[in-house]
Amino acid sequence: MNIYIKNIKEVDCACDALILPCIEGSSGLYNHLDLAVSKLIKRLFSKEFHGKHKEIILVPSPDDIKPERILLVGLGKRDEISAEKVRQAGGKASVYLRDMGMKRIALSTNVILSIKMSPVDFVEGSLLGLYSFKKYSGGKDKKIISSITVLSKVSKGLRDDIHRTKTITSAVWFARDLVNTPANDMTPTHLANVALSLKRKNLLVKILEKKDAEKLGMGAYLSVARGSKELPKFIVLEYKGAKGEPLVLIGKSITFDSGGISLKPAEGMEKMKYDMAGGAAVLGIIKAVSELKLPVNLIGILPATENLPGGSATKPGDVVRAINGKTIEIISTDAEGRMVIADAIGYAKRFKPRAIIDIATLTGACSIAFGNEAIALMGNNRELMNRIKKAADKTYERVWEMPLFEEYKEYLKSDIADLKNTGGKTGSLPSSAYFLYEFAGQIPWGHLDIAGTASIEKEKPYIPKGASGIGVRLMVNLIRELK
Ligand code: BES
Ligand code: MN
Ligand code: ZN
Repeated sequence: MNIYIKNIKEVDCACDALILPCIEGSSGLYNHLDLAVSKLIKRLFSKEFHGKHKEIILVPSPDDIKPERILLVGLGKRDEISAEKVRQAGGKASVYLRDMGMKRIALSTNVILSIKMSPVDFVEGSLLGLYSFKKYSGGKDKKIISSITVLSKVSKGLRDDIHRTKTITSAVWFARDLVNTPANDMTPTHLANVALSLKRKNLLVKILEKKDAEKLGMGAYLSVARGSKELPKFIVLEYKGAKGEPLVLIGKSITFDSGGISLKPAEGMEKMKYDMAGGAAVLGIIKAVSELKLPVNLIGILPATENLPGGSATKPGDVVRAINGKTIEIISTDAEGRMVIADAIGYAKRFKPRAIIDIATLTGACSIAFGNEAIALMGNNRELMNRIKKAADKTYERVWEMPLFEEYKEYLKSDIADLKNTGGKTGSLPSSAYFLYEFAGQIPWGHLDIAGTASIEKEKPYIPKGASGIGVRLMVNLIRELK
């Protein structure tokens, strides 16, 4: 899709639909336009339209102006408008126009600018909302928006903002594609090939094979892979954009989680193709960061494997040794995410990271606690957590902090090993994080449980049903703010 910036009058812009964002109750905002248009808007405002947030109405244009149609979209009450509301309005308006078969759309920016908001947020909502996953449904989809024209003075600032937004939103699309792809295609090998395809001058990609992981002593990670015929792939990406210690991002990459011998119930099991959403987010983040050439050092680690109950699968009660020498008694083979992340954290230490952040669909309890609305955040470092919270507020990929009380250590006490992999269902959200904390130790570390947000059941204004790509916008924002 093309995005143009044009410094022309709304009425002179040839397009299928011109979007006019409106403030609730303010019918006179477009009085500067052609008389027929401003009259039309006033008439709509008297009955059909109020400007409530996300309210929309599409009408044919009066004769003599270039846009074929006009779409009014509400931003809500003047003093309640936020960047997020503008983004949502963008998603709502664009998806509506696409579904109506429009191709070329244009955005009037005066009103958004007049309330000190950015039209780029509107464009971001549009780009995020227009995603669809059609790879498996056959036939060409004809309903596609081909261009968005932003009607504004041309400036370097605006051009840069739009370029960055395009880069980041296409990384979100990229992550969504990976997550939506069914597990028969999205195997660890395929995920590794996708990672390899990102290779470029500043971005090294290497794949550790099963035998490499064995040599390194990754007994926790390998215990998960035992039950599957698909080969595990431990994927490492190194982006070099600066000097100094790197930030390490670890993404849970279970390409299918059946639960293993601790088999999950059949109902809803198909959703467990989403269990690599953390890894997909990390690939999306690194893709965006390397395309934007951000001045940081970044390592991405995706410990990829399936979790299946094959004949040589790990059994409850088995004891394995992780890369750092700690022994783990496996109580549930369904608590596999923390096993693979534990070895990834152990491996990450060789990079002497300034911080480690893991992103994982780790617990059902997270999705029960927050539904589709928030990421659960835990960690051992206040400054890092504050940075994450700030980026979360900016991007509306919201986080909610959960405790890391030392009492959770008790939950993980094993009779025969250094620790066990689960303390059971009660407290499983914070105790799963505590398990990871046992491996992170004193390195600044943050944990994002995205089990509730990685895939959504009902579409949102700029997130279609299915994979959300969550984590990409959040982390790229955090990285941009890193000094
Ligand atoms: N991948 C699941 C967590 C999950 C569940 C994500 C539902 C999204 C939706 C994870 O591997 C898992 O199975 N966790 C168990 C842990 C339990 C055995 C302690 C869970 O939360 O039930
Ligand atoms: Mn599991
Ligand atoms: Zn899992």
